[in-house]
Amino acid sequence: MDLKLEQAGYCYRSKYQTVEAVKDVTCTFSPGTFYAIMGKSGSGKTTLLSILAGLMLPTSGQVLVDGISIAELDRPRLRLEHISVIYQDFNLFPLLTVEENAVYPLRLRRQREADALERAREALLSLDLRPEQFRRLPNTLSGGEQQRVAIARALVTGSDVILADEPTGSLDEENSQLILDILRRLAREQGRSIVVVTHDPVAAEYASVVFRMRDGHLLEDPGAQEGRA
Ligand SMILES: Nc1ncnc2c1ncn2[C@@H]1O[C@H](COP(=O)(O)OP(=O)(O)OP(=O)(O)O)[C@@H](O)[C@H]1O
Ligand SMILES: [Mg+2]
Repeated sequence: MDLKLEQAGYCYRSKYQTVEAVKDVTCTFSPGTFYAIMGKSGSGKTTLLSILAGLMLPTSGQVLVDGISIAELDRPRLRLEHISVIYQDFNLFPLLTVEENAVYPLRLRRQREADALERAREALLSLDLRPEQFRRLPNTLSGGEQQRVAIARALVTGSDVILADEPTGSLDEENSQLILDILRRLAREQGRSIVVVTHDPVAAEYASVVFRMRDGHLLEDPGAQEGRA
């Protein structure tokens, strides 16, 4: 699935001020590619991911999904079936256990409960979570463990597109590499599009295309492309 931004912009408006968080962005995110978006705090990265995910509509320009404007599509269904988001602040359901969080997207898709649970547990194990943690509530886990639960929840469904906002922000080096390796494999071996927002230059090294966001504008970073496969 191709996701394309065409002169897309997003402006937060309130009674007191307007903030043009994303300005005139044109680019395409294609299957089988790992993209990194870097940029200073406040440069518009989370806003850009939110319009790519269809969580908000652009206030100018458009987002095209395989050539069709996202405004015309059933966006909750698009997210359910094709786009997974890993949020900057995890967004785990606090009253659901670790495994209930991970299985949630599969329940929404009405998968058979036994199969769904098995897939959720596999995803948790692949992210180095331990079975004795599966029945606990998220707030009894460390920040890095919660982040890995959020990633497991995004991976279980096999979405075409995975959008991740600082997925390694709370992780040590070893766990960061584990997750970046998984994401890179999903792009290379399964043809998914992976878009990772990150402050971490090491994380950006896993990407085959690196963008930089500056004051709402998205620029490709040709220097960062050198020597990449
Ligand atoms: N709900 C909102 N209402 C008004 N302004 C907002 C809102 N959310 C974000 N902004 C503003 O839009 C701009 C871009 O914010 P955004 O969250 O996209 O940045 P970011 O690059 O993700 O930053 P960080 O690296 O700190 O997460 C900032 O100036 C921010 O203050
Ligand atoms: Mg952000």
